Order: sequence, then C-alpha cells, then structure tokens
Amino acid sequence: MNELRELYQELVLDHGKKPRNYRPMDEPYRHSVGYNPVCGDKLSLFVRVNESDVVEDVSFQGTGCAISTASASLLTEALKGKTATEAMDLMRQFTAMLIDPENDTDPDALGKLAVFEGVKDFPVRVKCATLAWRTLEAALDGRDTPVTTE
Ligand code: FES
Repeated sequence: MNELRELYQELVLDHGKKPRNYRPMDEPYRHSVGYNPVCGDKLSLFVRVNESDVVEDVSFQGTGCAISTASASLLTEALKGKTATEAMDLMRQFTAMLIDPENDTDPDALGKLAVFEGVKDFPVRVKCATLAWRTLEAALDGRDTPVTTE
C-alpha cells in the first residue's frame, strides 16, 4: 500500500509538473472544453482520430491542479493507438473506479491510471481527476460545448 502511495505521489507530481502532450493541435481534430465549477479550472482537450477510428494524437491545454493536470497528461499517454471505442471504454472504467461504489473493475487493468484509485475517498478531488476524461468523452462524441464535472 505504501509502495502504491509512493508511486501515486511520484507519478502525480511528475505529470503535474511536466505534463506530457501539453500543446495545441493542428487540424483536423475533435475538441472540447472541460470546466470544474468547484475551482473554476478549465481544460481544453484535442483528439485526432484517423479514418480507421484509431486515436492518432491527443493533447491538452489549460489550468488545473496537480491531480487534474496529471490525469490529463496520463490520459494523453494512455490513449494513443487505441480505437475511439477503446478510448471510451477506458474513460468509463476510469470514471467508474472513482465514482461507482459498485464498480468491480480491477484497477490493475488500468495500468498507470490505477494510481488515481485513492482519489475516490476525496469527492472534491474526484472532480479534478475526472475532468479530462469527461472532456474526452464530449470531444469523441463531437460535443464542442463546455462540459462540467457536476
Ligand atoms: Fe481545480 Fe483540481 S482544483 S481541477
């Protein structure tokens, strides 16, 4: 458990300070904006899906705490090469891990993303961790309007 906590801290600190794929994207892309009403933080997410329905590129920009930035950064790393359907499945598994008490997904199936499991005990922080994923869902659905974590 301590090892997991250390890994969590290391990963969140690392990705929070040096977010991967923190940049705009040249078109074509699908795009959406996520908003956390609790703190006012906003995140803009870009995703390019090719004609074979494979995620070719994902990037984000915006302001957020270490948890939301790290979650967005790890999202971008986790999605490249997945199909849009697999990306949606991962989004559902990730959010279920944090908000669904009946969830029985093995966190280990989420790879590095499992480090966010402990966040479920802190409802305010759950909104931080899920912000990028809600935004991804909207972008893949073709909803360009801002989404919120409420
Ligand atoms: Fe704003 Fe976490 S405090 S997203």
